[in-house]
Amino acid sequence: MTVVRINKFLADSGISSRRKSEEYISQGRVAVNDKIVTEFSHKVDIEKDIVTLDGEKIKPKKHIYILLNKPKGYITTVSDDRNRRTVMDLVKSKERIYPVGRLDYDTTGLLFLTNDGELSQLLTHPGNKVPREYEVKIDKPLDEDDRQKLLQGISLEGKRGKFLKITFPFHNDKKIASIVCEEGRNRFVKRMFRKLDYTVLELNRFSFAGIMLDVPPGKSRNLTYNEIQELKQKYTD
Ligand code: URA
Repeated sequence: MTVVRINKFLADSGISSRRKSEEYISQGRVAVNDKIVTEFSHKVDIEKDIVTLDGEKIKPKKHIYILLNKPKGYITTVSDDRNRRTVMDLVKSKERIYPVGRLDYDTTGLLFLTNDGELSQLLTHPGNKVPREYEVKIDKPLDEDDRQKLLQGISLEGKRGKFLKITFPFHNDKKIASIVCEEGRNRFVKRMFRKLDYTVLELNRFSFAGIMLDVPPGKSRNLTYNEIQELKQKYTD
């Protein structure tokens, strides 16, 4: 059972904006199972209830949530004017979906795609501090002083940026680090290292919003019902 408020149901269905939908409800033009509904908070079961506007049935929009393991050599947009391969070439969906945030052309790893604008916004909103975990390979061993600087925070184009955690998964190899950050600014990880004179050679995102990458490169899967509910709960106050 998936239950949502009638104003959200109408807005999600794509027939109109949330504001316009609320106008229709106030005007008594919306019915649920043949009964006029005038409360915006009226709950609708997407799978069972029949919702009509002026007597016309409104089809609920099916939300799609995909987890993709992006390989190198794909750009994170829906289309590209230079005809490069995009992440959309890797997923098949009848619905129009789009990436949540972005990964660089040469970055690999976990990328969500969805048509749920609300969840997409929650996951990319800086205030929500959504954790991202990356494995990064740099051109020389990371010095302990620099590791501390990255953890304490450095100025990046006038705004402070920091990593929350930096560990070395292969203890003797300080050129490979596992990092946690809560930032989605463009090229954030690469720019943080660049600022301290390191070059990122490889970057792989293995976790986003607490969900681990668990499919091989180029493959995708649907998020489970529980994963979707958990994400929504975590980032909605
Ligand atoms: N930070 C980067 O520098 N690049 C990415 O693709 C993601 C995070």
